Amino acid sequence: MERSVRCWDCHREIEDPYIDSCPSCNGLLEVTLDLEPVKELKPSDLSSRPLGVWRYQPFLPVDPSLAVSLQEGGTPLYRCLNLANDIGIREVNVKYEGANPTGSFKDRGMTVGITRAREIGADTVGCASTGNTSASLAAYAAKAGMGCVVLLPEGKVALGKLAQAIFYGAKVVSIEGNFDDALGTVRELAEQRYLYLLNSINPFRPEGQKSVLFEIMDQLYYDVPDRIVLPVGNAGNISAVHKALKELVEVGWIDEMPMLTGIQASGSMPLVDAFNRKAKDFNADKMPETVATAIRIGNPVSGRKALEAIYSTGGHAIEVTDEEILAAQMLLGRREGVGVEPASAASIAGLRRLMDEGIMDRDERVVCICTGNALKDPEVMISQCSPPVKAKATAEAVMRAIS
Ligand code: F0G
Repeated sequence: MERSVRCWDCHREIEDPYIDSCPSCNGLLEVTLDLEPVKELKPSDLSSRPLGVWRYQPFLPVDPSLAVSLQEGGTPLYRCLNLANDIGIREVNVKYEGANPTGSFKDRGMTVGITRAREIGADTVGCASTGNTSASLAAYAAKAGMGCVVLLPEGKVALGKLAQAIFYGAKVVSIEGNFDDALGTVRELAEQRYLYLLNSINPFRPEGQKSVLFEIMDQLYYDVPDRIVLPVGNAGNISAVHKALKELVEVGWIDEMPMLTGIQASGSMPLVDAFNRKAKDFNADKMPETVATAIRIGNPVSGRKALEAIYSTGGHAIEVTDEEILAAQMLLGRREGVGVEPASAASIAGLRRLMDEGIMDRDERVVCICTGNALKDPEVMISQCSPPVKAKATAEAVMRAIS
């Protein structure tokens, strides 16, 4: 596969794998693929492989013989009739990324990112994280036999994610500051070649994350939905989904794009602010705060790519309050039996907002990407529910307790 890493802004080619922004203009990097050979294929040519990231190998810029995989991807797309009814729209599908090996969508990017780390002979990998990236990286580093260093914002990482990072054997450093501070620090460590950085600023990470879109298209038999709604934090995922859409158009597998719609929490919404001003760039929020700690990010690295994704597909950027997020999390659990973490519930909360604000038509077919498993954040789940009732071990006592 012909591939190169280029600056997204000035298109300069970048050879050094440890560089994470353009030395000429400081722009974001992106992998460019030669998709000519893929134009000979059609989607059904890939369908003999199991649904999952590596089914889409013709779109992946790494050597498959070096692949480090935990069989990521292949997650369910639930058709949610109760939810559609409650919100009053024609069709809602939930792409349940909580079913990935470490419980979040990050595994899609990480299998490709860690394979790239192996290609370049890295022995230590690292990231800053609001939790899920660190859990995922720690697991893939364990599988690949690499050292792993993760920087987390002190006191702001959900319990399940912290437990995972420690459990898989990463060196976990609690940083005084927020995610944006931690990312700045880990980028310095990468610059000094101390570690190979696997945040989504690494252009190989989004290459794996493209697969969520490829799977959605397969699961909908290439009947393009009207809208894809997803939570936005550091803005890697929405940019990856957009890149996947552009590639499917390029190879002729689809001829239109869904409206990409990014949701941010009201306390942490630099991109919504920019969208409301119709701006192409955003102002960083120095004090992001939200119950959805996964997206508690004030300076999204891929923010400009995200805005382009939204503008060029006719989509939107919408804010939702913490109360709306928690209500949506409960709604999805109680009406559909689907457990997602608060950041993921932002996409469900976004549906209500889109309807209330008259942005979304009730005839739309929508896909919400629910990025992480409810078990990631048991404390938030428990805090919203009644505690168990106590009873003696007799049928009568139990009947009394539940009546
Ligand atoms: N949902 C969840 C559950 C996440 O963990 C994240 C990001 C997002 C949505 C937003 O995705 O950053 O690509 O816009 N979590 C990162 C982390 C920042 O460190 O785990 P994004």
